[in-house]
Amino acid sequence: MATDETTPSSQNTVTSSSANDSISSVLSEKRKFPPPAEFSKNAHVSSMAEYEKLYAAAAEDPDAYWGGIAEQFHWFKKWDSVLEWNSPYAKWFNGGKTNICYNALDVHVNSWRKNKAAIIWEGEEGDQRVLTYGELHRQVSKFANVLKIAGIRPGDRVAIYMGMVPELVIAVLACARVGAVHNVIFAGFSAHAITERVNDSRARMVICADGTRRRGGSINLKNIVDEAIVNTPSVRSVIVLKVTGETINMHDGMDHWWHDLMGLASDECEPVEVDSEHPLFVLYTSGSTGKPKGILHTTAGYMVHAASSFKYVFDIKDEDIYWCTADVGWITGHSYMAYGPLLNGATMLMYEGAPNYPQWDRFWDIINRHKVTILYTAPTAIRAFIRAGNEWVTKHNLSSLRLLGSVGEPINPDVWMWYHKVVGQERCPIVDTWWQTETGGIMVSPLPGATPTKPGTATRPLPGIAVDVVHKDGTPCKANEGGYLVIKKPWPSMLRTIYNDNERYEKTYWSEFPGMYFTGDGARKDDDGYIWIMGRVDDVVNVSGHRLGTSEVESALVSYEAVAEAAVVSRPDEIKGNALVAFVTLKDEYVGDMKLREALRNHVAKEIGPIAKPDEIRWAKGLPKTRSGKIMRRLLRELATSNEIKGDITTLEDFGVLENLRSGEED
Ligand code: WTA
Repeated sequence: MATDETTPSSQNTVTSSSANDSISSVLSEKRKFPPPAEFSKNAHVSSMAEYEKLYAAAAEDPDAYWGGIAEQFHWFKKWDSVLEWNSPYAKWFNGGKTNICYNALDVHVNSWRKNKAAIIWEGEEGDQRVLTYGELHRQVSKFANVLKIAGIRPGDRVAIYMGMVPELVIAVLACARVGAVHNVIFAGFSAHAITERVNDSRARMVICADGTRRRGGSINLKNIVDEAIVNTPSVRSVIVLKVTGETINMHDGMDHWWHDLMGLASDECEPVEVDSEHPLFVLYTSGSTGKPKGILHTTAGYMVHAASSFKYVFDIKDEDIYWCTADVGWITGHSYMAYGPLLNGATMLMYEGAPNYPQWDRFWDIINRHKVTILYTAPTAIRAFIRAGNEWVTKHNLSSLRLLGSVGEPINPDVWMWYHKVVGQERCPIVDTWWQTETGGIMVSPLPGATPTKPGTATRPLPGIAVDVVHKDGTPCKANEGGYLVIKKPWPSMLRTIYNDNERYEKTYWSEFPGMYFTGDGARKDDDGYIWIMGRVDDVVNVSGHRLGTSEVESALVSYEAVAEAAVVSRPDEIKGNALVAFVTLKDEYVGDMKLREALRNHVAKEIGPIAKPDEIRWAKGLPKTRSGKIMRRLLRELATSNEIKGDITTLEDFGVLENLRSGEED
């Protein structure tokens, strides 16, 4: 596999020319939008003064702040201490016993919310289902019994591979109810990616659907699972939900239909009283090196922050119809399509399908028909809507909307303005929320009734969250200086470790800036203390809001017979945010094979998933390396972006390599 010159300690992207370009473009951004008075009037936090007070109180006495929020949940036994911090290992609410599923469902079922809609689901063909809290509770309890009958015990890992149907949320909550650890795998991942994740987490069971609908057709998920579990010795059973009715193979002894098992199970299931630090889920995400990391979240701390961040950032009210367009296969879906809304007793909309099916107004049509009040989506989707044309949006009545959210990547000021004007009709505040799989919940975001927003910044950290921008030596940057985004104090929903790999956990997050959590992002703070995220400074790339490790894509490329060496970098892309460019050196006997480009792209799709396909593959006779043999990715990034090299090349070993790459004589 290709090696890299940019070890974390020598990362220099923050000061590279492309980062500087974006720094200067956002430095000139002066527009400021105070929250509309109408909105502030009824908001949970209604002024900056109130926010500042909350922030100061939380900083002064974090135990009192987080303990106060935790009081609002149901505990079978109260905690002994709010935080035990043995850096970098945290125990939150230690000694307590609770169950997140109980707090997400039973609490509401025992209140007036029993008949309130929890999930309003719409399928791609327009079919609809509504599950009240009472019905969701019944289904989850039944499926929790199914898990128990199948021998799942507290602490067992259960992999889930399904499209966006209510049963995905039911499976997740049922795991939590019986204390099993869910590992949701995004339904766009390949068989190989499933095998890797199931083996790393040693999952005992896989829950999947026969298929999922996409753009009028369907994808057979069960066949992919069949292929994946040939090499997963830990898996004892597979539960299959019928969604599309495709032709699949059911294997005796291993595979069971969801509906058969549900038919046998009772709908009463006492939740297991788990310790606060009982593992809740593992979610795999890309890192800068090696295989995907299993990010481990535990029960109580995650619950406290997922719920309270949801309440304050989305200013949730009982009348709201909240819609997050993220898939439950990503952290955004975990925290803000499942746990956050349900813990707050909110009504959420769930859509299984493409944003442009049958045409480009699907989102706006859904918002109008269901009277959605809060929309939470990603810049990559917004950019695609801009390209499709305003008329798709404006032909629908969007007056139900009162708040808009953005997540997953920096939102360019122009895109922010379009979202504000065309979708929000200059009426809806925008919450640009910065966070990560590792943080479990939103860390930096406006509070919509309090924070004046500026296009392109996630603004200020939430109360209780101590983020800062620092130099390489860990000292704080001055206002407007570019630096590294760190978190200086533990927070309840922080990852506890990388599953089965404490060493990697310590090295990845806690070794770069001693005593601080390193996010991997570059940022700057402006004169108002607003955080402007400049993007990743490691080899993680955000493509259409999906997080990919360039080294994973490289591994996939070099595992192909014809490839001698490969380096993958990103370049800015108008729609996707970033596009992947692969520089590939072929083994001599394959040079000139015209079919290889497509074959390689397909191979990457097979190894990881279609989202990881390089957008461009350039043939390279050799890759630019330092004298110690490390690939100079910085040069490749410059070439991929502008076909020019401006930076320092004195450490380059063979100058001829560059000439060849620049002139584009790749074929
Ligand atoms: C990026 C997604 C700018 C960032 C919740 C981070 C953002 C990575 C924003 C985490 C934002 C997320 N503005 N950049 N509002 N939100 N990012 O783990 O680079 O899939 O480190 O979590 O997305 O991606 P992940």
